[in-house]
Amino acid sequence: MGLRERFSAGLAKQLGHPSGMRGRLVARGLNKGNRNVVLAAVAASEVHRDQTVADLGFGGGVGLRLLLDGVGVGGRVHGVEISETMLDGARRRFAQEVEAGRLTLSAGDLGALPLPDASLDAAITTNTVYFVEDLPRAFAEVARVVRPGGRVVVGIGDPDNMRTMTFTAHGFRLRPVEEVAGLLEAAGFGAPADRRVGEGEGAFHLLVAQRVGVPPEGH
Ligand SMILES: C[S@@+](CC[C@H](N)C(=O)[O-])C[C@H]1O[C@@H](n2cnc3c(N)ncnc32)[C@H](O)[C@@H]1O
Repeated sequence: MGLRERFSAGLAKQLGHPSGMRGRLVARGLNKGNRNVVLAAVAASEVHRDQTVADLGFGGGVGLRLLLDGVGVGGRVHGVEISETMLDGARRRFAQEVEAGRLTLSAGDLGALPLPDASLDAAITTNTVYFVEDLPRAFAEVARVVRPGGRVVVGIGDPDNMRTMTFTAHGFRLRPVEEVAGLLEAAGFGAPADRRVGEGEGAFHLLVAQRVGVPPEGH
């Protein structure tokens, strides 16, 4: 493998599971490079004051900050990550919010979420599903933890656009957008809207859907 290939493979690995010093650098890059799409995902989740919400696979944590601002001091945010490096970074960056009980950071996998049934008003997950092999299982888990009437926002790069980025050749699962939307529906969400973020055919996709079922009283 040439130098360029090795760099691409290393970057792909770090994006899927950031770790160590390189992982911390990747996290900074993610926060900067993905800020706009995460901002759009949080807006699409329509979080309100005092709600309980989650960012699943939060990476550098830009979504956690935005969700904390959205739910206010009376709300609760959960951050779930497989990467200890990302969890450590968030524990340091959000020490006050964790201490105040406003933010709970948990080691966990999209395929087995460490959250109770119907405990969330909304969940976002951006740029994560490329790393998930069993997506039906992951979406079944998201459907389990989001209450009826609650929202999910799944953010994915446009697969054709992603294919032009050399690092995605190293293990990224670039599923057609319709397939991801179909799997969300099969898991128990209403037909997702595909909102685009950015310009042109390669614009980012936000799949926005509501959990089917009768919302609990007061929602
Ligand atoms: C490319 S980063 C995206 C981070 C952030 N959501 C963003 O859009 O900037 C992917 C993140 O998902 C996490 N991740 C990958 N697979 C996961 C899984 N099965 N469950 C939970 N998190 C996962 C990785 O550790 C990494 O931090």
